[in-house]
Amino acid sequence: MAQVEIIIADDRMLVQIAELYNQMFRPRADVGYFQRRFLGRRCSLPLVALFESRPIGFWIGYELKPGMYYHWLGAVLPEFRRKGIARQLQEAQQAWARDREYEYIRTECMNHQREFIHFAIEAGYDICGIRWDSTHADNLIIFEKSLHNMTL
Ligand SMILES: CC(C)(COP(=O)(O)OP(=O)(O)OC[C@H]1O[C@@H](n2cnc3c(N)ncnc32)[C@H](O)[C@@H]1OP(=O)(O)O)[C@@H](O)C(=O)NCCC(=O)NCCS
Repeated sequence: MAQVEIIIADDRMLVQIAELYNQMFRPRADVGYFQRRFLGRRCSLPLVALFESRPIGFWIGYELKPGMYYHWLGAVLPEFRRKGIARQLQEAQQAWARDREYEYIRTECMNHQREFIHFAIEAGYDICGIRWDSTHADNLIIFEKSLHNMTL
């Protein structure tokens, strides 16, 4: 397992999150894409994983509704995968949410994002729903997990 430093990203670091995002996702996104997502949301938490001061992964959550936190988006650079980086990001996010008395955490991914499906199952999430997403022409898998019995 690679030990990383997990930090909370301030506004300046959103640039680095956008850069990480653009290395892994299409279409490209700018900082405004992330700032818009945070508008009107409570308890947004953008986390970045640093390996030897280099940003190599990010993990972003916010409140979905009272009692429920939402993991919106996260990814780790391909060359750093399967080294426990997402596990460390997730642990930091969930500890932070549990400290703020959220009871559940929800997340979603597309059916084709198999790495994340494996990750979520391993992390102790239950599959609690599925819906068709017309924008991406794929099924969206919905996961939930109690923060009282944290695993991973
Ligand atoms: C999903 C993702 C974040 C996982 O990051 P990671 O740092 O590689 O994950 P970890 O190393 O912490 O994995 C923890 C456990 O999850 C499971 N897991 C993670 N990736 C897996 C894969 N590709 N296949 C099977 N199991 C996997 C394993 O059980 C793993 O433990 P192990 O390596 O000891 O067996 C990463 O693959 C990624 O960024 N994918 C592309 C972006 C994406 O799909 N994001 C999610 C949707 S928004």
